Amino acid sequence: MSDKILDVKGLSGGYGDITIVRDVNFSIGKGEVVCLAGRNGVGKTTLMKLLSGALAPGKGHICLNGKDLSGLNAFERQQKQISHGLQEQSVFSGLTVRDNLSLTGKWGKSSLVDRLLEAFPIIEKRYDVQAGKLSGGERKLVSFCRSVVEDGLMTLLDEPTEGVQPENIERMGEVILEQAKQGRSFIVAEQNLSLIEQIADACWMMDHGELKSLFPASPNLRERIVSELLI
Ligand SMILES: Nc1ncnc2c1ncn2[C@@H]1O[C@H](COP(=O)(O)OP(=O)(O)O)[C@@H](O)[C@H]1O
Ligand SMILES: [Mg+2]
Repeated sequence: MSDKILDVKGLSGGYGDITIVRDVNFSIGKGEVVCLAGRNGVGKTTLMKLLSGALAPGKGHICLNGKDLSGLNAFERQQKQISHGLQEQSVFSGLTVRDNLSLTGKWGKSSLVDRLLEAFPIIEKRYDVQAGKLSGGERKLVSFCRSVVEDGLMTLLDEPTEGVQPENIERMGEVILEQAKQGRSFIVAEQNLSLIEQIADACWMMDHGELKSLFPASPNLRERIVSELLI
C-alpha cells in the first residue's frame, strides 16, 4: 500500500478494567475508504473511540501521517486531523443546526459546504431548528456534515446512516467517494450493506474486539460479509 496515512499497532483498550478491543493492527492508505462491519457489541464503537481519543488507549500505537498520536487527547488528535462522527450523541441537542455546524469553525463559504448543502438541502431548511428537535436521521445528516466539513486527513464515521433515508445514504456515499478522491481517508463502521458496497475499498470484519478478516472490494463483497456475520 502506498502513502500509508494511519498505522495502528497493538491497540487494546476498553472501559476501566474491562478490555474490549484486543491487539488491533492495521493500516490505511491515503484516500482509502475502509468499512468496519460486525454484529452489535463486537467493539466497533470502542475501536473508533480509541482511535479518536474519546477513550484513552490501554496499550498500543496510533500513527497518523508518520506522527505518533498515542499520548494525545481527543482535542489534540482532532487538531492533528482525526475527525470523529460519534454513533450516539453525535450533535449538541440544545444548539441549532447552524450552530452545530459552525462549531467546526469551517462552516463558511466553501465549495465543500456548497456541495454538502446541494446533497442535503434539508440541512439549510433546518438551520434554525434545535438539533434535539430533529428526527434521528436528520441528526445523523448534521453529524455527517460536521465530520466531513472538518476536512481531516482521517475521518471516522460510526454508523452514519442509522435512521437516514435511502436516497440520502446514497448521497453520503457519493460525498465520501469524492472526498476520498481528494486524498482523505475514511473508516466507516456500518451495517448498511448497500453503502459498504458503494464506498468500501475494503471491509474489516470485527468480532470479540478483534479484526478477524479483511475483504477487499469485489462483486461478491456483500455475500462474504453476510456469510461471515452468520458464523
Ligand atoms: N461505557 C461502557 N462501559 C462498559 N462497557 C461498555 C461501554 N460501552 C460499551 N461497552 C461494552 O463494550 C462492548 C463493545 O461495545 P461497542 O464498542 O459499542 O460495540 P459495537 O459498536 O460493535 O456495537 C459491548 O460488550 C458493550 O456492552
Ligand atoms: Mg457501535
